[in-house]
Amino acid sequence: MPSLNDIRSTFLNYFAKQGHEIVSSSPLVPRNDPTLMFTNSGMVQFKNLFTGVETRDYSRATTSQKCVRAGGKHNDLDNVGYTARHHTFFEMLGNFSFGDYFKTEAIPFAWELITKEFEIPKDRLYTTVYHTDDEAFEIWKKVGVPESRIIRIATSDNFWQMGPTGPCGPCTEIFYDHGDHIWGGPPGSPEEDGDRFIEIWNVVFMQNEQFEDGSMRALDMQSIDTGMGLERIGALLQGSHDNYDTDLFKALIEASAHATSTDPYGDQNVHHRVIADHLRSTSFLIADGVMPSNDGRGYVLRRIMRRAMRHAHLLGAKDPVMHQLVPALVSQMGNAYPELGQAQALIQETLKLEETRFKQTLDRGLKLLDDELSGLDDDAPLPGAAAFKLYDTYGFPLDLTQDALREKGRSVDTDGFDAAMEEQKAKARAAWAGSGEAADNAVWFDILDSAGATDFLGYDTEKAEGQVMALIADGAEVDRIDAGGEGWVVVNQTPFYAESGGQVGDTGVIRRLENRDDTALVEDTKKFADGKVFAHKVTVKSGALAKGDPVELEVNHTRRSAIRANHSATHLLHEALRECLGDHVAQRGSLNAEDRLRFDFSHAKALSEAELQTVSNDVNAFIRQNSAVETRIMTPDDAREIGAQALFGEKYGDEVRVVSMGRADTGKGLDGKTYSIELCGGTHVRQTGDIGAFVLLGDSASSAGVRRIEALTGAAALNHLEAEAKRMSAVMTMLKAQPADVLDRVKAVMDERKALQNEVAQLRRELAMAGGAGQGSGSEVKEINGVKFIAQVLSGVTGRDLPPLIDEHKAAIGSGAVLLIADADGKAAVAAGVTDDLTGDLSAVDIVRAAVAELGGKGGGGRPDMAQGGGKDAANAEAAIKAAETVLEG
Ligand code: ALA
Repeated sequence: MPSLNDIRSTFLNYFAKQGHEIVSSSPLVPRNDPTLMFTNSGMVQFKNLFTGVETRDYSRATTSQKCVRAGGKHNDLDNVGYTARHHTFFEMLGNFSFGDYFKTEAIPFAWELITKEFEIPKDRLYTTVYHTDDEAFEIWKKVGVPESRIIRIATSDNFWQMGPTGPCGPCTEIFYDHGDHIWGGPPGSPEEDGDRFIEIWNVVFMQNEQFEDGSMRALDMQSIDTGMGLERIGALLQGSHDNYDTDLFKALIEASAHATSTDPYGDQNVHHRVIADHLRSTSFLIADGVMPSNDGRGYVLRRIMRRAMRHAHLLGAKDPVMHQLVPALVSQMGNAYPELGQAQALIQETLKLEETRFKQTLDRGLKLLDDELSGLDDDAPLPGAAAFKLYDTYGFPLDLTQDALREKGRSVDTDGFDAAMEEQKAKARAAWAGSGEAADNAVWFDILDSAGATDFLGYDTEKAEGQVMALIADGAEVDRIDAGGEGWVVVNQTPFYAESGGQVGDTGVIRRLENRDDTALVEDTKKFADGKVFAHKVTVKSGALAKGDPVELEVNHTRRSAIRANHSATHLLHEALRECLGDHVAQRGSLNAEDRLRFDFSHAKALSEAELQTVSNDVNAFIRQNSAVETRIMTPDDAREIGAQALFGEKYGDEVRVVSMGRADTGKGLDGKTYSIELCGGTHVRQTGDIGAFVLLGDSASSAGVRRIEALTGAAALNHLEAEAKRMSAVMTMLKAQPADVLDRVKAVMDERKALQNEVAQLRRELAMAGGAGQGSGSEVKEINGVKFIAQVLSGVTGRDLPPLIDEHKAAIGSGAVLLIADADGKAAVAAGVTDDLTGDLSAVDIVRAAVAELGGKGGGGRPDMAQGGGKDAANAEAAIKAAETVLEG
């Protein structure tokens, strides 16, 4: 019986023999399409080849593509685990022709692979064609499929589109009949949704492109895109119709059963199925750089993870389970997808952290759910507000709540949930609007209506003229702001950069052209009204600024230069991190201020010294290269095509700015490529050398799975190095050492210090024994009740010195009891000892307790032969000794 790994290889090798290039799966996070949440079919990475925008040096390809289908509002995450074929993650096998072969080859290829290589009996197979596609019908007849088994379908089932726009075309599908012991009918029949007739392969004839306005054009080339789910064909070839009944899934299900000490099959099987499926999607997503979060891709990942974690909980797992299963997954799939093994540690750490956290609220959330349900009628849906509370307070994604209710045959009022969510958002908006020092948002939209959007000139100049379009003071529009007044100024055009994309807003000065002595200091610049209105936060220093005034605006050059250097260095840093740590490094936040830069990125572990050094060396190498920084404006598609790093989930307009820097000739093996290419609206240096220098201050954890690097550039970097050097030189002077000897010297000094401390302690004890430590008193031996007793009050020793002294006294008297009271600045440390021969009748603990009580302390404890305690009032030492003597007297 072929394994899933065998089947994958057979497929790829078959098409390789037919002249196809075996191309690696593209990442689950599409590189060439920020509109798509996850790669959901084999053709995603080839999208631009079908439309002719991109060409490669092959025109036939075959892949086994990682796919995730779990995003979007209408996903069926809720079904996964309960059915035979639902998955969040699956592998799509495909062959592709880019203007090379078309229907007459594609159909026979598929038929030969299925019937000869996979040896599937022909009499089990059916095919469908688009109702008007006579050509495909005839080709099927020619390869030997009886007409009665070629079904014409008029619906969109046989017209494949990648989305609302993009390449598309009619398709033909191959179905397998699992036999009449399973319910279901052939495609097109009323029973087609049953499990008997299963689609195993979709062959798309890519010949059209769909546009946003609904129109369609014929593509210049006729191409082929096919998709066959590996899990389905695997089940079939392994004699089952259930995808979870395959070697790969059984291995994961058994690993899950082992980790939870439960039965892999039987009643618990459904939980293991959920876990096995979700283990695959979460691990592959993490390997491709997605981290759990509360929005976008990260939230989909979190939803899947938490659903699996609840099922582990249902299996009774006490400890986190998911991370324990990663080795089983890597051993199953690591050969086909090396990225999985490379990211193994990251995957395990991420899963463990998430499961540990989620467990903390899971029980309380489930209890809340039960409480809510117990108050409802049997078939009433859970109110939206309760589902929202589970989401908001206990971290239960909606589909997790739905999944939990499913077992009880109940549902959630999703409209109520949406309404509760909206209400919370509205509150947040209201709070935001009311909190700002800036005026109410409506004011900015009014200004946008009357004055139009601000024209930003600051990429090319730091000084420009403009006209005051609006002034705002205390949240309302005003006609003028006089000297001493504060507010916001909107000018029709400005060189001032308004805070965005992590870059801080510019500061500087605005002068009235008619009288340049009338000035306003700009303390910050921000964007309002959807980023269209730039406003300068000002204090008017002299004269006044009035609506309609022509003004000159000048950015603080020194500050802006420092910000520029930091921003450009951030781009180099981003790329250096990706090179050093891997493609999972994605920007999670940044700050480009005048005095420092900060960069947050997805990566689960602290960076090693060696990694930090590599990253810092690389950034500095590109600074020294002093190559030109290029900025281009292009369409988002073109930008993606040249490989620009973009922030996924970010909305980009028709045009984007693309900033590139770093030439390939640094000996880093990047021949012919540009080092860093990013979509970016910020301001940058002209040459990388303008950054001056880069000093990495260190990395720290910013949030779960996100690291933060802080660094300095230019003068700030040099000042920092200089200050470090000064400190170092002061240390060297103090140690009388040369730079190379500093560490040895410090170690020698530390050792010496330790030796001296020991020596001092020893001397103190000796002095005390000789009765002379400070004004020690009362060391004569008394005899009470036939027991030798020494009591002594010591100063100049600490509580820590007492036990060794007790031991020495005990040794000196041979048999007896000792009480020592150390007077440390008025406070008392007490220790008592009783020689072993007497501990049957007398306990050091009792002696200490009696003494401590007199010294204003409480308790005291230890063993019968040695006990300690303390009190606040050493002046009562004599009374304490008396109390101890009373203990001896019995
Ligand atoms: N792109 C086609 C599909 O996903 C093959 O079904």
